[in-house]
Amino acid sequence: MAAAGSSKTASLLICLTMIFFVQQLQSQFVVVAAAAAAASPSDDKSSKELHGKKLSFTLYQQETINKTGYMVVDGVAGAGVSQTTTPFGTVYVFRDELTVRAERSSRVAGVVEGSSVTTSFDGLRSLSLGKITLDHRGRRGSLSVLGGTHNTQPSDCPVVGGTGDFAYAIGYVRTSPVNLRGSSITFKVEFHLYWPPYAHYAPASKH
Ligand SMILES: *[C@@H]1O[C@H](CO)[C@@H](O)[C@H](O)[C@H]1NC(C)=O
Repeated sequence: MAAAGSSKTASLLICLTMIFFVQQLQSQFVVVAAAAAAASPSDDKSSKELHGKKLSFTLYQQETINKTGYMVVDGVAGAGVSQTTTPFGTVYVFRDELTVRAERSSRVAGVVEGSSVTTSFDGLRSLSLGKITLDHRGRRGSLSVLGGTHNTQPSDCPVVGGTGDFAYAIGYVRTSPVNLRGSSITFKVEFHLYWPPYAHYAPASKH
């Protein structure tokens, strides 16, 4: 009776010891796996750090009519061509530098290439699309924006995606006219970016 009892106790002990060992192995494996994941080669540490975070900064878009921006298709109706209006259907194409301050001579941090089509009969509103290429504060890549813009009021344009360090960024850019006099136009461009948590698991992309 006593012999059977002690053997039962012994097997229970062995069993508990086994469970303990398996748990130890599992926890060690988790530690090793986490370390391996952390050490996995990443060509882009800064973008990994950004995922799930917010980033805001401001740049200034410098445009010169008939130099960096051109009306390529004449509009057909509504308001005429003025300093602030273009006829309905006007297609405008631009490639403007983005500087760090409102002054044109300040450092260039990127470029915006895009187009806008006048979509209101008062000539003030457009559907705009753009690719913004940036090399700013150690981050390189591009953002694609698409949305409605107003010629004389601040406009929020959704960010629909990005590449490089801006891959999977979402948010919006707020564009406001700073100077609409003459053929040189300056817009303030405020970037409000956010990386959703899933961005961390998405594949990398080139600039
Ligand atoms: C730009 O060029 C067009 C076509 O030559 C001209 O009609 C227009 O007045 C020019 N605009 C400015 C602001 O220079």
